Amino acid sequence: MPISRTAAAALCAAACLIVVPQRGSAQGPPPTSKSTRDGVYTAAQAARGKEVYAGFCQACHTPASHTGSVFTSKWVGWPISELFSYLRNEMPQSDPGSLSAAEYADVLTYILQLNGLPKGTEELPRDVKALKEIRFDTAAARPRRPERR
Ligand code: HEC
Repeated sequence: MPISRTAAAALCAAACLIVVPQRGSAQGPPPTSKSTRDGVYTAAQAARGKEVYAGFCQACHTPASHTGSVFTSKWVGWPISELFSYLRNEMPQSDPGSLSAAEYADVLTYILQLNGLPKGTEELPRDVKALKEIRFDTAAARPRRPERR
């Protein structure tokens, strides 16, 4: 039996109602007081991170996979706490959460170094609250606001 015009209109209205509340709910990154361009890790920390990477990450990844637009489009513009938490919760994929907070922070600084971000005089902190204040910017131009993952 063909669907009546009224029923079709009602269906359309219902479908539109489902779509409309979604609009405007997308939130941009929260404000941060620092950027990864400010020199937020030390050379020694990144060197330790490189060791962690060789031991626990390189079996599945290449360092280059943590650079470039596919990688940065996911993480850049967001507080670095997002990537830190991701690493702690998901990596190494074979044994998530198995490293210490210090090791996760160290390996994260190795990723910053791979992305050409400057070293500084203080180590990257290892607690999420402090990392929420540091925005992941690329070494080059300020990024556009990425989509929420
Ligand atoms: C057993 C294999 C394995 C190991 C070991 C491993 N990873 Fe992964 N990693 C993966 C896989 C598979 C993905 C993709 C997961 C997905 O897309 O859901 C991934 C995703 C990632 C991502 C996100 C990629 C992106 O483009 O945003 C990062 C960053 C990462 N891993 C870092 C690490 C680090 C750092 C370590 C070491 C502490 C590590 N991984 C160890 C398998 C592994």
